[in-house]
Amino acid sequence: MHEREHPLHSMSSYLGSFPPRLPRRIIEEWLPRRATVLDPFCGSGTTLVEASISGRRPIGADLNPLAIALSQAKLAHVTVSDLEFRLNDLAHGFRGETEIDEFPELLRPIFHPRTLAQLCYLQRSLVEANPEDIFLRGCILGIMHGKHRKDGSTAYLSVDMPNTFSMSPAYVKRFVEERGLQQPPVDVFGKLRERCRWLLRTGSLRERPDSLVVAADGAQIHKALTRQGISSVGGIITSPPYLGILRYGAFNWIRLWFLGFQQGEVDRHLDGTDSLDVYLSFMATFLDSAAHLLRPGAIAALVIGDVVENGQHLSLGERVWEELRGVAPFELARLEADDYDSTSKTTRVWGQERRGRATPGDRILVLRRRRIAGSARRRSNRPRGAPKALGGELPENRLGSSADC
Ligand SMILES: C[S@@+](CC[C@H](N)C(=O)[O-])C[C@H]1O[C@@H](n2cnc3c(N)ncnc32)[C@H](O)[C@@H]1O
Repeated sequence: MHEREHPLHSMSSYLGSFPPRLPRRIIEEWLPRRATVLDPFCGSGTTLVEASISGRRPIGADLNPLAIALSQAKLAHVTVSDLEFRLNDLAHGFRGETEIDEFPELLRPIFHPRTLAQLCYLQRSLVEANPEDIFLRGCILGIMHGKHRKDGSTAYLSVDMPNTFSMSPAYVKRFVEERGLQQPPVDVFGKLRERCRWLLRTGSLRERPDSLVVAADGAQIHKALTRQGISSVGGIITSPPYLGILRYGAFNWIRLWFLGFQQGEVDRHLDGTDSLDVYLSFMATFLDSAAHLLRPGAIAALVIGDVVENGQHLSLGERVWEELRGVAPFELARLEADDYDSTSKTTRVWGQERRGRATPGDRILVLRRRRIAGSARRRSNRPRGAPKALGGELPENRLGSSADC
């Protein structure tokens, strides 16, 4: 992480997150002071944190409960002393291994029984409406599992795992058995104390009671915001789902367990497609919805990763604009390459062979809302047959009994 970046950005890894300097630069250059900044595919909340730091109102939406939890955690207004007070309170209420009602089989290779008992206890005890609890939940998700340091110490709660994204349960089991890994007896409360101090070492974000994170379909974002009484925003900065199927649920099943969701349900609700045509149709639907929220002259900045299509490097940002110009009610304000250091792109963790069609380059497509209303009718069908079931609420699905606790 770069020195100028707020430590909160490092709360948790997140697939496909963009570097904070990207939204920061766009905010500074394109958005009026005090404008509301919307990210309808907010992921881990990078845009939202930068909007908040810049003094603007952040609004985020996503359909992934992990994204919602992380974004809410980063925007929660908390202090280290209040967090420590709450942690002491929680630690006091913990009654030991009896906190595990039913043993979550799949998690046994990953966590020490006492660590697991603490996680189960916290899973039940954290309160939805309490800012400290929202922040602690985000911290737990961030330290759930990962690699130990060379000296054997760890910032994480798990056995020494190769990275912070979850491999399949069978793979994890085999990995742990083959290497004879021992689950370290990590005290979750102690780790959380360290983590809170680290993340807030330069202070918390300014209080913004008007910040908002909703579980909603970004492609229909105007409907979700209308339900919240919001009819317009100052600008949009976002990186929509990639072309290519990214299984956020499967890669995060351990974190989703903590949140009480099943990976399959999450993946079914998220957009992701291998078809360029379906992708372009999705983008048309999204831009049509975005146009409802933007006044003439306001911008929507889209960060779109280049891809490899039929063996050829494709600038997807350019392709999106080629397809939608004259159809969507926008004009092109700028299209630029952002060839930043590929080490800062999260897809890097998959390694070359797993990166699929993503390439290190990104395009920033800055679109300005036109004065004369148009419509994206030509491509406005939703890319998938099934209508979205979610809107305003996270799905209620819970993990099956084998992993419940
Ligand atoms: C490229 S990521 C955004 C990452 C974000 N910029 C960050 O820095 O963390 C795209 C996001 O779109 C979300 N997503 C996919 N389909 C969606 C939909 N229909 N509505 C809302 N969010 C969706 C995914 O959950 C993911 O968080």
